[in-house]
Amino acid sequence: MKKVTVSAPGKLVLFGEHAVVYGRPCLVTAVGQRIKTTVELIDEPIFQLNAPDVSISDYKKPMSELGKGEAPKGAKFVEIAVANFLSKYPFQAGIKVTTKSQFSSQFGFGSSSASTVCVIKALSELFSKKLSNKQIFDLSYKTVLDIQRKGSGFDVAAAIYGGTLYYVTGGKVIQSLNIENLPLIVGYTGVKADTVTIVNQVAALAKKYPKQIENIYTSIQSIVELAKISLLKSDWQSSGELMNFNEGLLTTLGVEGKKLADMIYAAREAGAYGAKLSGAGMGDCMIALASPSKVRSVKNAITQAEGQIINVKTNVEGVRIEP
Ligand code: PMV
Repeated sequence: MKKVTVSAPGKLVLFGEHAVVYGRPCLVTAVGQRIKTTVELIDEPIFQLNAPDVSISDYKKPMSELGKGEAPKGAKFVEIAVANFLSKYPFQAGIKVTTKSQFSSQFGFGSSSASTVCVIKALSELFSKKLSNKQIFDLSYKTVLDIQRKGSGFDVAAAIYGGTLYYVTGGKVIQSLNIENLPLIVGYTGVKADTVTIVNQVAALAKKYPKQIENIYTSIQSIVELAKISLLKSDWQSSGELMNFNEGLLTTLGVEGKKLADMIYAAREAGAYGAKLSGAGMGDCMIALASPSKVRSVKNAITQAEGQIINVKTNVEGVRIEP
């Protein structure tokens, strides 16, 4: 085999962001919008990337230079993923990668992690390595850490395993939860959040107020444990209330921001069971839970607060080979 196409889903965090960077659990669901990556073995010893969604066209580097020198932002994850695979499973060939996304990299759906996972999975197939999901996770998570230095890896897990997961930092626990039909409403702020910057801001706050921030993480953890149970029972009322608790703690961490707050309050006032931000905060998306009779008014309220509704399927299949 010389060529394979693989796809992986984006993700939305349901509960537990930020605390999950510090050893606590979170809940994450894989969304229907996917990244598709084609990886081809070529004779010339060069790495070649086309990723039109992140404005990368015909990016080239000798295979011997992989991971060295500068790389444009949109190329980094794919390049380092190939470099990490190559150093673990040496091979002689050039690599041509093409990625295509069904969602904007601005949404915070985890496009970088999903494309990293696609590349590792594709190389595992092309070189018949038969890597397990955990082996794909470890190599993909290493790639993310090599580039970002920080991050819990939940987005990597969602891209690989799919479904809805109870996840602990670094993949210490990756548990699939049997949840169907999550009645989730998603609103996009139109603002791109820089995850690493926000994680660093929270880290600076924790340096100044270690005990207080530690207590917040512990509270978030206890909410995640309850939310896991309420989601498994399809108890949307309690799940919504727990979203509101979680949001209050994220506000305390200073990551809510006015735009998200407006959309979250609008959703609650329109009758949602609860609403919160999803991800690092300050931008990207918010999520809400609502009964079928309230869905339309909640969506309208979010739109009136200048958010954009994004229709998502949740709980979808993880990384897979495409025909
Ligand atoms: O901004 P996102 O969607 O990548 O989510 C970040 C979530 C954090 O908990 C703040 C960081 C992490 O790596 O878990």
